[in-house]
Amino acid sequence: MNPKNVGVIENPDGYGKVGNPICGDVMELFIRVKDDIIADIKFKTFGCGSAIATSSMITELAKGKTVDDALKITRKDVADELDGLPPQKMHCSNLAADALSEAIKDYKSKKKKK
Ligand code: FES
Repeated sequence: MNPKNVGVIENPDGYGKVGNPICGDVMELFIRVKDDIIADIKFKTFGCGSAIATSSMITELAKGKTVDDALKITRKDVADELDGLPPQKMHCSNLAADALSEAIKDYKSKKKKK
């Protein structure tokens, strides 16, 4: 009910955007990384309540972790952390985990280019 870390980071170190093919909802995720640790993370979701809840939860789980540890956060971890999601809503939690891994991939590819 009180989503955390909603918003945008200007010039993020990593950016991920994913769409949910099942319902058409979209999520964008931004990360700021310092010494390979996720120092700040924000998201914008055009989606249902479950998508917003899982997005908020994943930002809470990922903040302060190294990018490699954050990559290991699974859809199931997020759903478990929320005390489970109804089965028909599990697809909504995919958005958050996928957007986070996209943002981390983006960060890593930018880092390689430097
Ligand atoms: Fe679209 Fe949940 S119904 S993300």
